Amino acid sequence: MTQDQLKALVGQAALAYVPPGSVVGVGTGSTVNHFIDALAGIKERIAGAVSSSERSSQRLRDHGIAVLDSNQVQRLPVYIDGADEIDGQGCMIKGGGGALTREKIVADLAEQFVCIADASKRVEVLGTFPLPVEVIPMAAAQVTRRLQALGARVVPRAGFVSDNGCPILDAHGLSIRDPLAMECEINQWPGVVTVGIFARHRARVCLLGTEQGVQTLHFAAGAVRAQCA
Ligand code: A5P
Repeated sequence: MTQDQLKALVGQAALAYVPPGSVVGVGTGSTVNHFIDALAGIKERIAGAVSSSERSSQRLRDHGIAVLDSNQVQRLPVYIDGADEIDGQGCMIKGGGGALTREKIVADLAEQFVCIADASKRVEVLGTFPLPVEVIPMAAAQVTRRLQALGARVVPRAGFVSDNGCPILDAHGLSIRDPLAMECEINQWPGVVTVGIFARHRARVCLLGTEQGVQTLHFAAGAVRAQCA
């Protein structure tokens, strides 16, 4: 199977995690595009969606699925999104598509994060994929120096502005052995909007597309501390 076929497989499988009558949290990316297309097949059975990007909102609307503002909902039963990397505890790197801030906002509204990914995304240690960090423009140089001090080679994402009007720095070469600690550290640097480590908002379930079919990974609650120290 091609990588795209594996993404389509898990996009379809994620429908099993959508409760009837619910508002669904919807992520961003090529895997989620398959999920949105599958969701269109059951659109009469859901109340709508809260989306993490303009791109996903557009695709949802094109299918006739109502898109609600995140401020209109208090709680979502589930958030379904892809990942650039996911480790053995459900911690992820996200933001390859640049939607990390809105993804974390919608994930924060959700009772559970269901990650959908092809098998290439499963890693032992996060960091081979460059870590995206969205910043306020006037902090870009200082945040770059701080990332370099952690050992990263920092590349500003060329020609890119997020849905929030901010640039993204991609930090290459990090080996993220304690995702929660690094997320907490980078989050508190002045001018950082969002770091693309999802440890506090890690996945509880991952539907992994493999040659043998969909493999369901469950991550134990408590395997990662829920809060910064
Ligand atoms: C978007 O900003 C990202 O977080 C995506 O969820 C991630 O890059 C996975 O994308 P694909 O599904 O396209 O691989």
